[in-house]
Amino acid sequence: MSVDILKISKDALAASKIYDDVINASIGMFYDEDKSIGGMPIVSKAIRSLPDEKILPYPAVDGGKDFKNNVISWVFGKYEETIRKQMFVDACATPGGSGAIASTFAIYSKPGESIFVSDIRWQYERFADRAKLNIFEHKLFKGDSFDLDSFKERLTELCAIQKQVIIIINDPCHNPTGYTLSEQEFQQIIQIMNQFEHNDLVFLYDLAYLDFSHEEDKRKKMTYLPQLKNHVMTILSFSGSKTFGAYGLRLGAAIGLSHVEEKVKQFHHKYVNEARGSWSATPTISIELLNHFSLKENKEAFLKGLNHITTLVQQRSVSFISQAQEVGLKTHPFRSGFYTVVLTPNPEQDYLKLAEHHIYAVPMTGGIRLALCSLSKQDIVGLPQKIKSILHL
Ligand SMILES: Cc1ncc(COP(=O)(O)O)c(C=O)c1O
Repeated sequence: MSVDILKISKDALAASKIYDDVINASIGMFYDEDKSIGGMPIVSKAIRSLPDEKILPYPAVDGGKDFKNNVISWVFGKYEETIRKQMFVDACATPGGSGAIASTFAIYSKPGESIFVSDIRWQYERFADRAKLNIFEHKLFKGDSFDLDSFKERLTELCAIQKQVIIIINDPCHNPTGYTLSEQEFQQIIQIMNQFEHNDLVFLYDLAYLDFSHEEDKRKKMTYLPQLKNHVMTILSFSGSKTFGAYGLRLGAAIGLSHVEEKVKQFHHKYVNEARGSWSATPTISIELLNHFSLKENKEAFLKGLNHITTLVQQRSVSFISQAQEVGLKTHPFRSGFYTVVLTPNPEQDYLKLAEHHIYAVPMTGGIRLALCSLSKQDIVGLPQKIKSILHL
């Protein structure tokens, strides 16, 4: 289902100028309880205080040595040393996580091939369309868990007809469901990928919401990556736009990992080439923003602000999910994150019905996605009941 999320969000903004009861749950941007964007004054302050030389010049295409080291440290956290001891690692700056995804498709696939994704997912088909790729789906859920059987069966089918396969896993805080894989599920996914030794697998791990997870140790899953065998090239897609709540700034990175040194050398060469031939270079200001918050003293202050946000987002979600359960409104299994999906029979008509009642959300296969990250706690009070009665569920 291809809808224009930015357009729904614009409609919601236009409606909010006329009506005062508009609920804009259309887009994955964090708004604070007072409806201010991003929620982290420390980020706006840092952006405004960067000197000209950290904004105006062309940057290194890959972001430069400091950026690469900083983004790798950011994503691996305390596990960086252990991982670097076991695998070759390199990085390239990209304009948002989107840049990392688009370039991975361009580099590791040929037109006419298929990418391997779950049946419920973010809009990867937009990137696939551009790269002339098809979609090959596995089921995301079996009951309340990740469907490992479908993942294995469908991957077996695809690997029989295609040598090189890009596998996308969006975790933690899966968009649109808010599901987060357990460590066991993640490990089993790795074990399954390891079985396809006659294929060249590209494991595109889309961790756009890494910093918003409510796992006790958000980086623990990284420690399983070295278990991947040589036929798997791992690309981590990092979204600084999400982490820093600076959505328009376009900050991201592709981080490549493998036990095979040559694969990581090629990774770097190919992403730099792809960047030069498409977006040229990631904005200097974005690169420098990550460098700024990688300094110990700045990072500590940032993490405090981030903690405030993740706690709020979780409170909103818990409030929505518990009210939904009370009134019998069904959702996909939820753990944490920006979104949840309410299951409805006719998403394409149902989202329009909700919009007539000034509730703006996004239709998805099987339901309507609500971006709880952009609603205040007050907005959420009574919302599940309202949705249930509007849609006669
Ligand atoms: C699952 C997922 N991956 C990647 C992205 C891309 O993020 P960015 O804004 O950094 O391009 C998004 C943005 O909504 C997302 O939801």
